[in-house]
Amino acid sequence: MDLGIKGKTAIVTGAASNIGRMIALTLAAEGANIVIADLDEDGAQGVAKECEAKGVKALAYKTNVADQENVKALMAKAAETFGGIDILVNDAAVFITKTFLDSTPEEWAKQINVNYYGTINCCYEAIPYMQKRGGGRIISVGSDAGRVGENRQAVYSGTKGAIISFSKALCQEIGRYGITVNVVCPGATLPEEGPGRRGFWKEANVPTKRNPEREAAMIKLYPMGKKPDGDTPARLGLPDDVANAITYFASDQAYFVTGQVLSASGGYTRAG
Ligand SMILES: NC(=O)c1ccc[n+]([C@@H]2O[C@H](COP(=O)([O-])OP(=O)(O)OC[C@H]3O[C@@H](n4cnc5c(N)ncnc54)[C@H](O)[C@@H]3O)[C@@H](O)[C@H]2O)c1
Repeated sequence: MDLGIKGKTAIVTGAASNIGRMIALTLAAEGANIVIADLDEDGAQGVAKECEAKGVKALAYKTNVADQENVKALMAKAAETFGGIDILVNDAAVFITKTFLDSTPEEWAKQINVNYYGTINCCYEAIPYMQKRGGGRIISVGSDAGRVGENRQAVYSGTKGAIISFSKALCQEIGRYGITVNVVCPGATLPEEGPGRRGFWKEANVPTKRNPEREAAMIKLYPMGKKPDGDTPARLGLPDDVANAITYFASDQAYFVTGQVLSASGGYTRAG
């Protein structure tokens, strides 16, 4: 099936690693030229090379999504390099796992600035370029934490809930320009082993290796994690699960789908 993504320009924030990297690679495999916007310049360069190996053009651009001027420069560079902007994926985020009363105002600010302001900044600066193109796709990576709230991630959950409400409101203003706005919510998603793996297990004090005990306990909460027949190994989410849902929203087939929130999380949440 032709998804209509070939030749489009896609900006993926937070694409230097993990889920964002897989989103960039999946859109590249569908023929989009990719801008990898991440604080991690070396990681972004590496993913740009991986995208180019799929036969598309790619640009790594060091970006702090919390800095609006930096985001403005990112969008200008992307449009200048590839002739316009068609797809924006807001993936960059930070999450700090602590009880609310143990957390600090600095930690609240960091999560609000990167997750929520980062998304707002990128939308604000990308939309005028999409209007010039006569359409576009905005897809933000939310979280099931933003739908039902996650224990020990109160402020993070709030930022993701904010992204969901913002997207539902924004889609009403820009549908007339052919621009859709949707959210894909991962549940616990474990990148493949390797140097790009980080983040999630830091809270279990296991920065680079799996924590099988914790993983097994979490899998029980995921309807798709349970495989009593033993045919398929039980698992949590993979970056592919999220990237495939994003790719649908980025496609021509999703033209009439906007303001929606889709969990790609093995049924962890089933919110209406
Ligand atoms: N991994 C999970 O279990 C999980 C679950 C639910 C939702 N999510 C969401 O999925 C997305 C990706 O998660 P991940 O696990 O791949 O995260 P990660 O921490 O592995 O990667 C995040 C990327 O964002 C970049 N980044 C951080 N701050 C930035 C900034 N200010 N400007 C630009 N780039 C910045 C980092 O350098 C990194 O490359 C996030 O939005 C996250 O909230 C992840």
